[in-house]
Amino acid sequence: MNTYIFISDLQKQLQSFADANWSIGFVPTMGALHAGHLSLLRRSKKENDITVCSIFVNPIQFASQSDLTGYPRMMEKDSKLLTEEGMDILFAPEVDEMYPPGEELQLDLDFGRLDKVLEGKSRPGHFKGVAIVVKKLLDIIKPTRAYFGKKDFQQLNIIQHMVDTLKLPVKVVACETVREPDGLAMSSRNLQLTIGERQLASRIYDVLMFTKANAGSIPVKKLQMMAQKRLAETPEFRIYYFEIVDNRTLLPVSSWADPKHIIVCTSVSLGGIRLIDNMELFS
Ligand code: PAF
Repeated sequence: MNTYIFISDLQKQLQSFADANWSIGFVPTMGALHAGHLSLLRRSKKENDITVCSIFVNPIQFASQSDLTGYPRMMEKDSKLLTEEGMDILFAPEVDEMYPPGEELQLDLDFGRLDKVLEGKSRPGHFKGVAIVVKKLLDIIKPTRAYFGKKDFQQLNIIQHMVDTLKLPVKVVACETVREPDGLAMSSRNLQLTIGERQLASRIYDVLMFTKANAGSIPVKKLQMMAQKRLAETPEFRIYYFEIVDNRTLLPVSSWADPKHIIVCTSVSLGGIRLIDNMELFS
C-alpha cells in the first residue's frame, strides 16, 4: 500500500491511473477502522480498478474541542489493517495540508432543512464541516465512486444533495450498516464506551427493532412515543431524538402512507458518547 500525506504527491499518482482510464473508488474515513469500514473498502475494491482510503479526523466537524481530542486515533493499527486488506492507496494528510492557514473555509451551498433537523439540531455546523471536507477530498481524488455507510444516514443524504446540486462527477454508493452480534451499529465511537455502557448500548437496536416490528399497525405518533418510552427505561441514555421520518426530507411523517420512504432515526448519548442509528421500517 502506498501512503500519501501530501495532496500533490497523491495527485501525481492518481493522474497516472486517470490517464490509464482506471476507475477510482474512494472511502473517506476518520480512522479507528472497524468492520463497517472494511465492508465499504471491500465493496470499493470489487467495483473499481483502484481504491483510495483517506484517514483524516476533520476538526471542523466537531462541535467541541473535547469531542475532537477524545476521538480515537490509531494510525499504525489502521495502516496495518489496510495493508492486510490489500488496499492500494492511503491518504492521511495533516490538518494544515487540508486547511492551509489563512485559507477561507467556505462552501456556498444551502442544505435547506436537511442540516438543521435530527443531528443538526444539537450539532450546529457539523454537516457544513462534513460537506466542506468531503467536497475537498472529492476535488483532490476525483473518484469514480465514493462509498458511505447508511449508519450516518443524514450525512449520506446531505452528501448526495451536495453531489446532485453541484453536479459533481462522482457516484455516491450507500452501503448497509454493519452491526455487532448484539445489534449495535459499528462505530469508531463504540471504543469509547466502558464495558457496562457497551452492554447497555445494544438496547438502541432493540428499540429500533421494536419500532420496525410494529410499523404499520400502530399509528405513527403513538408508536414513536411508545418507542421513546422504551428507550427512556434505560436512565443512562440521554436521548437527543427518536423520530420516524421521510428518508428524503428527514422530516417527521404523520402516517404510514409512503412506506418505502419511512425510516426511524435516533441519537442517544451514553456516558457522554454520542451514538446514532437508524432503520428502514418496511424493507
Ligand atoms: O463519516 C465519517 O467518518 C466522516 O464524517 C467523513 C465522511 C469521513 C468526513 O470527515
